[in-house]
Amino acid sequence: MNYHILTLFPEMVTQGLSESILGRAAKKGLLSVNAVNIRDYTADRHKKVDDYPYGGGAGMLMQAQPVYDAWKTACEEIRSRQPEELRDKPVRTVYVTPQGAVFNQQMAKEFAKEEDLIFLCGHYEGIDERVLEETVTDYVSIGDYVLTGGELPAMVMIDAISRMVPGVLANGESGETESFEGDLLEYPQYSRPEEWHGRKVPEVLLSGHHGNVADWRTRESYKRTMARRPDLWEKFDLTQVHSRHDKKVLAQALEEFRQEQGSAAETEE
Ligand code: ADE
Repeated sequence: MNYHILTLFPEMVTQGLSESILGRAAKKGLLSVNAVNIRDYTADRHKKVDDYPYGGGAGMLMQAQPVYDAWKTACEEIRSRQPEELRDKPVRTVYVTPQGAVFNQQMAKEFAKEEDLIFLCGHYEGIDERVLEETVTDYVSIGDYVLTGGELPAMVMIDAISRMVPGVLANGESGETESFEGDLLEYPQYSRPEEWHGRKVPEVLLSGHHGNVADWRTRESYKRTMARRPDLWEKFDLTQVHSRHDKKVLAQALEEFRQEQGSAAETEE
């Protein structure tokens, strides 16, 4: 995966993405981060990249010309590596904006299939609409709140996408059993010591009985989703629970959830 990030703050992005798992993946050649400074492409003598919006209003807008030229240069580099048959396909260009579709795990998986991704990070009050019309394939937000620029959202998306690129996570760090796989939250986890601050690790996890451990984890996963993300639980497709055994585990989780809710309500009273 090759990321091309068009930004006014390239260091922010390169520094943020050079550590930990992504840094390791870059060293292994599984991904590359090319931060392109939009200011390097301005035709303005004073290196200006922004101007007032027509019609008035607060703040400044990023101008079309430097954004377009930075994007075009990135596209040309990508095209030069692509086989002939892919050259008609538009290069996937993500504009990070609170006006986009809200990013999720499914989108992370989809984007991870691309060989190259361009991220366009806005600043000030936004970007001249005309250059967006000519370059952007995907408008994506990371949630319903407004940040000062697109760099942090781009980094959030890049992190989530990179985990889905084969080889980026080491064995045992697999993205498959974690929160949001199957639209459920992950079960609680415990490590040594067996007792800490008077709190004991659930007995079943010490039992060595793999079947019981798996059932306990499934139940906890259900219960945690019901308690913390009722919106996800509502969408969870119960018809995918097929076998008699799995149905029993689900019924137990529902019963335990009801009981735990009941005792929590009693404590509050
Ligand atoms: N730019 C500013 N706020 C943003 C958000 N919530 N998501 C994506 N890009 C943004």
